[in-house]
Amino acid sequence: MASLLESGRTHTCQQLRRDHVDERVTLFGWVHRRRDHGGRIFVDLRDREGITQVVFGPDIHQDTHAQAESLRSEFCIGIAGKVVDRGDNENPNMETGGIEVEVDALEIFSASDTPPFTISDDDRLETNENVRLRYRYLDLRRPSFQRNFATRARISYITRRTLADLGFYELETPYMVKYTPGGARNFLVPSRLHPGSFYALAESPQIYKQLFMVAGFDKYFQITRCFRDEDLRNDRQPEFTQIDVELSFATPERVFGPMEQLMGALWSEILGTELPRPFPRLSWQEAMDRFGSDKPDMRFGLELHDATAASRDCGFRVFDGAPCVKGLCVPPDQAGGLGRNQLDKLTDFVKKRENGAAKGLAWVRVAKDGSWEAPFAKNVKPEAKAAITEAMGAEPGSLMLFIADEWETVHTVLCALRLHLRDRFELVPPGAQWRFLWVTDFPLFEQNDKGQWVSSHHPFTSPRPEHVDLMLSDPGVVRAQAYDLVLNGNEIGGGSIRIHRSDVQAKVFTALGLSDEDARAKFGFLLDAFRYGPPPHGGIALGLDRIAMLICGAESLRDVIAFPKTQRGQDLMTGCPTPADDPQLEELYIRHRPLPGGEGTGESGAG
Ligand code: AMO
Ligand code: AMP
Repeated sequence: MASLLESGRTHTCQQLRRDHVDERVTLFGWVHRRRDHGGRIFVDLRDREGITQVVFGPDIHQDTHAQAESLRSEFCIGIAGKVVDRGDNENPNMETGGIEVEVDALEIFSASDTPPFTISDDDRLETNENVRLRYRYLDLRRPSFQRNFATRARISYITRRTLADLGFYELETPYMVKYTPGGARNFLVPSRLHPGSFYALAESPQIYKQLFMVAGFDKYFQITRCFRDEDLRNDRQPEFTQIDVELSFATPERVFGPMEQLMGALWSEILGTELPRPFPRLSWQEAMDRFGSDKPDMRFGLELHDATAASRDCGFRVFDGAPCVKGLCVPPDQAGGLGRNQLDKLTDFVKKRENGAAKGLAWVRVAKDGSWEAPFAKNVKPEAKAAITEAMGAEPGSLMLFIADEWETVHTVLCALRLHLRDRFELVPPGAQWRFLWVTDFPLFEQNDKGQWVSSHHPFTSPRPEHVDLMLSDPGVVRAQAYDLVLNGNEIGGGSIRIHRSDVQAKVFTALGLSDEDARAKFGFLLDAFRYGPPPHGGIALGLDRIAMLICGAESLRDVIAFPKTQRGQDLMTGCPTPADDPQLEELYIRHRPLPGGEGTGESGAG
């Protein structure tokens, strides 16, 4: 008889239904579970599409049944046999649960050691994640992961199709690039041919995609890897994937249009959800004022209210002395759930935020008659109470939660508190599943902890035309033609209209404290290119991993990246990063320097 492998499979493990009864089929897959019952052996056979129950018995085929005795979890096998109706033994929890296959031919492609954990979704959270990452190829066999990666593949496919149909060229840019300062910390790659010199791994294709516009390619996209040596979180990986886009003759609206179309196609084809378009837009200022965040979760209210003016000279020293007093107003139906104990917990919560920047949380319960119940109620003048209650939009039964501090602390802390209350009270209504939002008009510059002005996005971002002249006199108020795409409180993309005029670019460099020589040394090639008729242009990059995480309903980027790194930047499967051998280092003219006070992996310095 020809081997099963030769003759090939007839179906996947997800396809067979009652319609197939009496057909002879061949399936390939892994032994998901094996049960021995009164002489019969039942195997759940699993492939990437699903699971089918197959059964071995002396009455079905004696030799095959004997052969099946040796089957264990995760053996890779092929089977052939007849589809039969399970009748009353139907399993309603399985898509293929109406049938099973009576096996008369078995081919064991390979045996498996006992896996370090069970390949099922049930025990996923119980297995230590480090063990799962070490045996990532086994973890990836779980049905939930198989689904995530099928979805991720569809996201890539739909993206390519949609953007190609809209006239974008898919083009590639180098990963090994010139190091340019600013932005994320780069990974460096030593050059053997130029000892002591390094390439940087591209943190994004930013400069190259702008050069594509100078080259006249008009519309470009790429699904590309970016490398950033950042501190990692659940929504950050050192290597991640962008859907990178750039257009000539762009305005923000001409960037938003195709991106909304792309999101529309993804949500419609993958989730069957029609997204209302255009997506709402909110200026950065309004987003900060109302939600304390440049990526607000718009699925619920609980907006920030400003009580700064109303609490001027109110008599309570915490409010009187503060440059900004704002708060959240918890409506009566939820306020009842926050007793004294919980309020103490909320106070502890805010004090831990922003490295302990918040000094406390002032709470006020508004009684039926509008009077205040608060530890400091007696300190506040009656007319101020009325003004504050009104500014907060509070009614009898409401609970007001205030932070008084510098503008920035007030907003970041209230944003954290708002999200905390969202989770505590499940404030997101089930119907409000997907709330996309464009946040626009970001500040062009921000101050770093040394008080220097740095680009909020990158130095090629165009200011709003009417703000060009303010760049040197009042950098803090200059707004950029920069935008983020936000979904349910996640930043899933960011971009801007770029500067294409050298006089404007020179002003930005001056505002950033870069001399002409510095600017030439760092970005000379781009400035040169801009001397040859650059078109006005702009673009965006979407975080493909984050989009996949949200579409899959996953908690972490690690659930949608096949081979992710840990929080500490390690790949536990291969054990990288690993020290380099001395001969390797010698070839690169790099000397190993022992860590101060330690042995093991050394710091590398160019020799
Ligand atoms: P930006 O730095 O905002 O813009 O990145 C764009 C999007 O990429 C995603 N992202 C990440 N995802 C996972 N892990 C990370 N470490 C990570 N960092 C960023 C986010 C983010 O919105 N060149 C510009 C784009 C442009 O101006 O066109 C850029 O890279 O979803
Ligand atoms: P104190 O007089 O410092 O005990 O503060 C009185 C109340 O105000 C307490 O409930 C504190 O948690 C709260 N509080 C203190 N500082 C602030 C602040 N900066 N913002 C809001 N509430 C505060």
